[in-house]
Amino acid sequence: MADLKTTYMGIPIENPLLVGASTLTIRPEKVKELADAGAGGVVLKSIFEEQIRADVAETYEELNGGMHPEAYQYLSADLPMQLGPAQYLKRITKIKAAVDIPVIASINCITRARWEAFAKQAQSAGADALELNIYDVPDDPDTPGAEVERRHLDLLTGVKAAVTIPVAVKIGPYYSSILDITRRLSRLGADAIVMFNRFFQPDIDLSALALKASLNLSRPEDMLLPLRWVAIIRDLVSCDISLTGGVHDWRGAAKAILAGANTFQVCSVLYKKGPGEIASIIDGLSKWMDERGYGALDDFQGLMRERNLGDNRGFERAQYVKALVGLE
Ligand SMILES: Cc1cc2nc3c(=O)[nH]c(=O)nc-3n(C[C@H](O)[C@H](O)[C@H](O)COP(=O)(O)O)c2cc1C
Repeated sequence: MADLKTTYMGIPIENPLLVGASTLTIRPEKVKELADAGAGGVVLKSIFEEQIRADVAETYEELNGGMHPEAYQYLSADLPMQLGPAQYLKRITKIKAAVDIPVIASINCITRARWEAFAKQAQSAGADALELNIYDVPDDPDTPGAEVERRHLDLLTGVKAAVTIPVAVKIGPYYSSILDITRRLSRLGADAIVMFNRFFQPDIDLSALALKASLNLSRPEDMLLPLRWVAIIRDLVSCDISLTGGVHDWRGAAKAILAGANTFQVCSVLYKKGPGEIASIIDGLSKWMDERGYGALDDFQGLMRERNLGDNRGFERAQYVKALVGLE
């Protein structure tokens, strides 16, 4: 029987399947169900800066109502970080108490000070690690790309200085050079890079002529994008890599590890089919390893990474040229 035990950012895990940040990972009972179903670890739903601000606005109003002015002054000085995310922090503690698997808290803030302050609090609340969800859609045409990247790198530096638990950075696929940004994140001390964030894209409702939100669940073929980039950067970064996007079955799981990922995250498939899919993926992966004679993940991890495929042309240009030639 294959051994699926591994580590992620130095934390021992029973298997490389993590449930990705989503509404599946917000309630302690649900997280317990995912852990019981066999998940190796879980990334909690992100807390967004807007959420923190909304909470805080309400609290300000409450305090403003009947409080002594000095007390109000004192409390409000540090209010945003003390009271806004209180609910989320309580959730971390509750979820940690409910399960034995590693619990990774996820933060999405815009301003650096908030990331750092909240990161510290998440650590105190019991999170085993953090995932910084860089969901940043630059909207200022006067801000050059290099400056946007600098902001992302600075966030990591700030959070790393603020906490002692491991820190992963979840990035999107829209950088000019994925190779450069991931290598710089790794050099700055990221403990893992999570590839890739899946942005919600608004749709247009043709009858109402209004924007509509769509759930945006993935399909298995969506995995080809992160698969390619994990394989390409595997030898460029020294930190761990977690692949997220389109892993729907044990085949996707095996491919993620073959490309060089340390863990993979699942989300859409659990929305579609329920937590029972976790066992199917783990059992399928384990069976495939047995059939191929792999006793442990190390036996095949990174076997299909770019550097292993000869003259660095596997997932890069050569495949593209081959596909075009094949079509002619
Ligand atoms: C309903 C839903 C909510 C999500 N919420 C978050 C979130 O709060 N933070 C985050 O980093 N990713 C979030 N994601 C993205 C997932 O964590 C994951 O990266 C993405 O869905 C790709 O994985 P999949 O193909 O297995 O779904 C969400 C995805 C879905 C479907």
